[in-house]
Parts: sequence; structure tokens; C-alpha cells
Amino acid sequence: MRLGVLVSGKGSNLRNLVERGFEVAAVATNKPSCGGAAFARERGIPLGEFSQKTFASLEARDAAMRDWLLERALDLVINAGYDRILTGGFIAAFEDRMINIHPSLLPAFAGGMDSVAQALARGVKLSGCTVHIVTEEVDAGPILLQAAVPVLPDDTVETLHARIQVEEHRILPEAIEMLKNRIAPARAPLR
Ligand code: GRF
Repeated sequence: MRLGVLVSGKGSNLRNLVERGFEVAAVATNKPSCGGAAFARERGIPLGEFSQKTFASLEARDAAMRDWLLERALDLVINAGYDRILTGGFIAAFEDRMINIHPSLLPAFAGGMDSVAQALARGVKLSGCTVHIVTEEVDAGPILLQAAVPVLPDDTVETLHARIQVEEHRILPEAIEMLKNRIAPARAPLR
């Protein structure tokens, strides 16, 4: 199954997928200087760089990124720490073929880039992560898998996020395996 991965951050989920032997055929980023982009370069994975400053609008950037991904005959697109809301046109092009990993037990703490901090501030005793299908409503698509972790009294955003990421690295591959059996090989349907 040919995977496309969208990254803006350090790229630990991307690295984990590659190290587990998944076929990552393309990586796209809006932050060419991020860790995920550096990892793609290091491993020789085709990298699409779509810095917002080189495009007139969000729609123009997403259209370019969409077309670049569509050329790569991907079966599934994975949103692994991509930090911008994707436009409707982009999401429609990958309907039912794009998943997201989010660092909270959705529907709690949806919608933001600071979900871990929000969970900590709210004083929840359990947090975790969710893999879901991407739909136009942010963080609200059908849930595929979740994993819970305890929030400990001395946690900081960093320690809690690290505990959540251990689970992300387990359930994201598991969700991809689940979908492997559900979606037909997609050379054509992505176009
Ligand atoms: C993860 O915590 C993911 O849930 C969130 O962004 C973070 C990306 O981490 N959407 P990494 O860049 O894969 O390390």
C-alpha cells in the first residue's frame, strides 16, 4: 500500500512508519525546515515542499499539494502532525483515503494544535490519542482506533505528550493495517 504522509513537525510518526517497513511513497510539508522533511530527504523519499509563503492563498497551496500527491498514485494519505487546516477541495480529493492522528481522546480537545496542554490544564486524569478518517469538520471524522494513557500528577506538556506518542506509534500502524483490508488498491480512484 503506497502511503503519502503530511508533516509539519518533528516527524516521529513518519519515522516510525518507515522503520516498520510501510511503503511511504511521498511526504508533503508546509514547513520545509521541519524534522519530518529532513527525515524524508535523508531517506530519499520524494518530498513535496509547499511553504505557504510561496502561494497566494491557502486554496492555491492546497491545490498544488493535492495535485502533487495525486500524481504519486497513493492508496492512503496520512496526516501525521500536519499543522494547518486543510481546505475542502483538498479533503474531497482524498475522501475516505485520508486519516489523521490526534493527541487526545476525541471528541475531547478537538480542533487545536495545543490539545495536550489543554488536557493538562483541564485536569483530566486520562488522555490519549485517536486515529480517525479525515472529513471536512476538523477532528470529527469516523474514529478508527484510540488508546488511553494516564495523566500523572507531575506531568508537563512534554512528559504527557511523550507518553501519548508511544501509543501513537502503536495505533497509527495498526489503523493502516486495518484499512489495508478495507480499501481497494487505488491506482485510479485517487484521481
Ligand atoms: C502528534 O502528537 C500528532 O498526534 C499530532 O502532531 C504530533 C506529530 O508528532 N497531530 P510527530 O511530528 O509525528 O512526532
